[in-house]
Amino acid sequence: MNKHPTILTGIRVNSEITLGNFLGALLPMVRLANQHSDKSQVNIFVPDLHSIIDQVDGELQANIIHSLKYYLAAGLEPNPNIHFYRQSRVPAHSELCWILNCIATMGELNRMTQYKDKSSGKDSVDVGIFDYPVLMAADILLYDAAYIPVGEDQFQHIELTRRLGERFNKRFGETFVLPATPKAQAEFMHVDEGIRIRDLQNPEKKMSKSNPSPNGKIMLSDTPESAAKKIMSATTDSIGKVQFDMFNQPGISNLLQIESLINNLPLQDVISTWAGETHYGDLKQKVAESTQTFLADFQEKLAAIDDSVVYELLETGETYANQVANTKLAKVQKLFGLR
Ligand code: TYM
Repeated sequence: MNKHPTILTGIRVNSEITLGNFLGALLPMVRLANQHSDKSQVNIFVPDLHSIIDQVDGELQANIIHSLKYYLAAGLEPNPNIHFYRQSRVPAHSELCWILNCIATMGELNRMTQYKDKSSGKDSVDVGIFDYPVLMAADILLYDAAYIPVGEDQFQHIELTRRLGERFNKRFGETFVLPATPKAQAEFMHVDEGIRIRDLQNPEKKMSKSNPSPNGKIMLSDTPESAAKKIMSATTDSIGKVQFDMFNQPGISNLLQIESLINNLPLQDVISTWAGETHYGDLKQKVAESTQTFLADFQEKLAAIDDSVVYELLETGETYANQVANTKLAKVQKLFGLR
């Protein structure tokens, strides 16, 4: 592994961002960026091509700028090693995606859980949904990125990226750095395992933008008070003991997880603090307060960021990204006889 590995992530902008997206990917990225960007390259991009799969509307450009402000409002300290860019402004992503399509198999893409979930019960399924993970592999491999802060639901796509990269290297010679295994990714993010924030009303399921029930999910645009109310009315269980057990007590475990991530405390410390507690109300109260405080602070910072800050970062970031990506793409094209 490279001494100063590249760190990279992206969040789609086809709708608003949930607390799940925030705690699973955005905040870990901000913390890693602030910790490592003195030496590592940190790429933060908007997968706008992935965002048009489910939905096309007139909001995309505004959402792109807004979503990049989230990183700044969450505490990202810009420096020359941090690069902001839009996927569609770096055409090498689409080019490499096509080339990777020529080594990926239908069988392995058919096995992707996200594809199965999104296509199940539909008569007609867009090719874009099927090919989603190959474009994601291109996003990662173009930059030799090693660490990819994403939630647990995306680990299967990271595994696929590793497989495609490895297959390519075996057939054509060492070309791509493979991203770290999901286990190593979790270690790098200082979490025990992949992060999956649960739906507050139905904690067996992950918190998801597409869940129609507003009470199960917290959006970053919710008022701090309404977010606190949602936490207070979260589904728990009748066991009557605060402990971390995602299988039998997913609701309570989810609250412990949220408390740990929002306050940047090790999960084990939060679990120890609450061990032996029998009143769920006290824990709910505490997590509601943490969420309320966090959202109030975040929204205040967000409102103070001018669009021009993001446009400036995009200008330098896209010059950088095109340089790195085009160099890698040219190498790949030569190997395929295209150059
Ligand atoms: P998206 O927009 O669907 O999700 C963005 C990130 O949020 C994480 N996430 C969660 N984490 C914890 N708990 C949850 N309930 C939860 N819900 C969502 C997702 O795992 C994700 O990290 N495929 C990516 C976008 C992408 C990308 C990439 C990421 C495209 N190319 C290259 C990294 C590298 C995605 O899932 O976006």
